[in-house]
Amino acid sequence: MDTVKHTMYNGNKNHAVYLQVIMKIRYIFPSRRQKKKLVSLFFFTLFVICALLLVSQKVTDRVPTEPDRNEDLTDIKPLNHYDVDCNGIYEMDPVEVGKSLAIRKRIIVEELDESLVNRTSNCSDYFHSRGYASVRVSNEEKAFPLAYSLVVHKSASMVEKILRAIYTPNNIYCIHYDRTSSERFMRAMESLAGCLPNVFIASKLESVTYASISRLNADLNCLSDLLRSDVKWRYVINLCGQDFPLRSNIELVADLKKLRGGNMMETSLPSEYKQERFSFHYELQNVSFENQQLPVMTETTKEPPPHGIQMFIGSAYFVLSREFVTYVNTSVLARDFLAWSHDTYSPDEHFWATLTRVPGVPGEVPRTQPDVTDLMSKTRLVKWEYLEGPLYPACTGTHVRSVCIYGATELRWLLNFGSWFANKVDDIVDPVLVQCLEEKINQKQTEMVMAVDQALLTELDDP
Ligand SMILES: *[C@@H]1O[C@H](CO)[C@@H](O)[C@H](O)[C@H]1NC(C)=O
Ligand SMILES: *[C@@H]1O[C@H](CO)[C@@H](O)[C@H](O)[C@H]1NC(C)=O
Ligand SMILES: *[C@@H]1O[C@H](CO)[C@@H](O)[C@H](O)[C@H]1NC(C)=O
Ligand SMILES: *[C@@H]1O[C@H](CO)[C@@H](O)[C@H](O)[C@H]1NC(C)=O
Repeated sequence: MDTVKHTMYNGNKNHAVYLQVIMKIRYIFPSRRQKKKLVSLFFFTLFVICALLLVSQKVTDRVPTEPDRNEDLTDIKPLNHYDVDCNGIYEMDPVEVGKSLAIRKRIIVEELDESLVNRTSNCSDYFHSRGYASVRVSNEEKAFPLAYSLVVHKSASMVEKILRAIYTPNNIYCIHYDRTSSERFMRAMESLAGCLPNVFIASKLESVTYASISRLNADLNCLSDLLRSDVKWRYVINLCGQDFPLRSNIELVADLKKLRGGNMMETSLPSEYKQERFSFHYELQNVSFENQQLPVMTETTKEPPPHGIQMFIGSAYFVLSREFVTYVNTSVLARDFLAWSHDTYSPDEHFWATLTRVPGVPGEVPRTQPDVTDLMSKTRLVKWEYLEGPLYPACTGTHVRSVCIYGATELRWLLNFGSWFANKVDDIVDPVLVQCLEEKINQKQTEMVMAVDQALLTELDDP
């Protein structure tokens, strides 16, 4: 360890000393053969020194941040505005990227759920201080309201940031929180919804179990509430607590209009492996790890789906037209299919993908049409660890279960990929990314609405 420390602080000096030593050795052993040996020894030693330097570099990188940790513990919260230039991050300016990396090295303390309750205790104050009052929308957006179904279960401050980033006064938002969430989280969500007239809590709450029908039901609860709302939304989008928008509302509306009533989601023919998910009866069982329940496959085979439905598979994330949702809400086929799906594995990943292929549904994707893969669907940009390299640049945040939680260095890639939303984004992993996405999207919204207004004024002036 001493040598490491030594090279660590005296890297350059060491190198000079080393060269001196080599020269001395050369002087003592001048023969040719020995020279050759010495050369290889020289390179070998050089290699060892380089390796040591690399190791020590890593050690020094980490060392200086340690003492900061305790001091900063109290004042760092994701609510903080970090002194980072987001345009610099976007342009990959080394100084700004360096700053964001330094911020990430400190321990980031999550804002407590109670704190959101506190911040929303005076609604007028919250509404203005968080900039809701200054969100501007174009007439085009006003004529094309969107609905959101947010299915969340923890981290109130992150949910608040997502909501703020997708908020416009003319849209409508349903929040479904888990019945088994902490008391504090539920209070924070109620308090948040209480401050915003167009945000409400789902009238029926599920206790959501991973990969079970409850996940799908949570969205369905929001969807039926949303259908009842006075806001005549045109499209509905579902989000979870680790999604974040990559488009401003005005851009999203422009893109959705181009769908001409179609839906946007993944829908592919299932592989043999995925067919197992609905060919057998699944049962919820306790699993020892993670202290939760999971649907487990049994030996019992299932009847094929009702009404001669042909199965397709996709993801839980959707962008659906109002007409399609009305169809799902009222059709006997959809009702029977939902009932049939209750004992399948992860029905949210085949329910929507299958229904959009049913002949005659609004926005139908014909069964003969090729797969719509996750890369073709703009609903969600997910970066899988095993596709990094060939398909995507490496993840600069961290991975959970092979999925990337993005880092600030991916800002530009995220915004330019063409998807509407990203998964996973978490301010505990990289608060700078969240800050910069929020800033960029806000800026885009303001600029584009101003440009549209300006164009309208010019038209009026000059008919
Ligand atoms: C809420 O805010 C008040 C006033 O700023 C403060 O005194 C109180 O400690 C806060 N409570 C919590 C739980 O953060
Ligand atoms: C809420 O905050 C505003 C200032 O933003 C203040 O004028 C008002 O009195 C506060 N209301 C209550 C009930 O504390
Ligand atoms: C599963 O665990 C819960 C508590 O964690 C318990 O109440 C329940 O009886 C268990 N069910 C089975 C089938 O073991
Ligand atoms: C359809 O929506 C209505 C209200 O919007 C709701 O009461 C009903 O439960 C929904 N039905 C289904 C099958 O989703």
